[in-house]
Amino acid sequence: MTALEKIGSPTRPSGAALYDWDYLVQEDRAHRLIYTDPAIFEAEMTHIFGGTWTYLAHESEIPHANDFITRRMGLRPLIIVRDADGQIRGLYNRCTHRGTTLCRWEKGNTKSFQCPYHGWNFLNTGKLRGVPWPEGYAADMRDPKYNLAQVPRVESYRGFIFGTLNIDALPLREHLGTITAIIDEWLDRNPGGKVVVCEANRFRYKGNWKLAYDNSCDGYHVAYSHRSLLETENRFAGENAKGMAYYRNSPDTQPMYMRYTGHGNHFKDKRPNLEKRPGGLWAMESPHPGMEHYEAEFIKRYGDRAFALLDLAGSEPVNINIFPNLSLLGNHIQVFEPISVEETNAIWYGTMIVDEDGKLGDDAVTDINALRMRTQEGFPNFGEVDDIANFEQIQRGLMAIEDEWVYMHRGLGIPGRVKTHADGSITAPATDEAFMREHFKEWKRLMQARPNLAIRREP
Ligand code: FES
Ligand SMILES: [Fe+2]
Repeated sequence: MTALEKIGSPTRPSGAALYDWDYLVQEDRAHRLIYTDPAIFEAEMTHIFGGTWTYLAHESEIPHANDFITRRMGLRPLIIVRDADGQIRGLYNRCTHRGTTLCRWEKGNTKSFQCPYHGWNFLNTGKLRGVPWPEGYAADMRDPKYNLAQVPRVESYRGFIFGTLNIDALPLREHLGTITAIIDEWLDRNPGGKVVVCEANRFRYKGNWKLAYDNSCDGYHVAYSHRSLLETENRFAGENAKGMAYYRNSPDTQPMYMRYTGHGNHFKDKRPNLEKRPGGLWAMESPHPGMEHYEAEFIKRYGDRAFALLDLAGSEPVNINIFPNLSLLGNHIQVFEPISVEETNAIWYGTMIVDEDGKLGDDAVTDINALRMRTQEGFPNFGEVDDIANFEQIQRGLMAIEDEWVYMHRGLGIPGRVKTHADGSITAPATDEAFMREHFKEWKRLMQARPNLAIRREP
């Protein structure tokens, strides 16, 4: 049996009890305090990051036994490790002696971690293996309380590793619900349904983490905020609606929509006019200089196979957002990492494909992965900077104490515009803020709850 240590006991009341959440988040508006108040941020670090499933890492980042990578769950530093038996764990990257960061490396492979401060040594199961000069301790150093804390529940969905401290949380698969179908579609066009996560493009902005999530499914801002990228792509897109060029007309007249699937998760779908043929995805890829050259080279090298291969370089035209900290967009995995109430990391991990069943051949895989990088450079470099500028300027605007509300009521109250479906999902036109109203219901539910949180240690 593994020891569970309950946290958040009644003797330690949560700061969340101090707020009237129904006042702070209403159907059509949210109060500035939820983006600016350090006490609310602190409550989020247990009620959201810990209270629900949080994305931690991808299995391809720790493919072998004893591989590890350092990550965070909210503000908790973690070591995500695959131990010698293959079990994936979320160890607290915090020495149980006096609390220093145990592992200072970003990633690596090791059976044990030695604390840089006084040399306590821990197995990668989290168990304390030994301490220097143990004769100096009268205590029994085999007491489990000296083993590293770890996330009590770590589960994966098709390679995506999530963790929660909430021992009452639904199993991950159930929690994700119907959005798994879209994650499957995002994965299944790749050979064997697999991707490998690559190095990241890292951004940091001076703004609250929710500003990024509030933007993740926002089709309203694109024509204005991303105007320079839109104009660039328009020049290459010709008559075709693809990439940013989707947004050059009134976006709600275009073949795209948003769907909310529950638990804060939603996606923007630009696939209704995707042609199901080899080259169909490639035809929708964001246009950029040099594309014709790549296409011609693929045709020259791979003949009939060329367009099917080019589809593997293009991206599924859907943005999938998993509350609170994960977005799949293009071929990227984006992760939002809160730093403080007014600072956030927005990290874009590239992905590449692997030749799972050996059908593609090494040359084709190398060419596809090189082209994936080219096709995917546009938005993270030229679009994300626009978004981050908005987030920082919102944070500044919200420092105006007397002007209290942000509005999210686009599409609300127009008969027939927002639709609820038999499976409970909600759809709305691309520019509606229905996605934001819905993820804030989940945010509020979590902030109002008293989550049953625990950590565990090896016995
Ligand atoms: S703080 Fe880690 S051994 Fe002292
Ligand atoms: Fe944007």
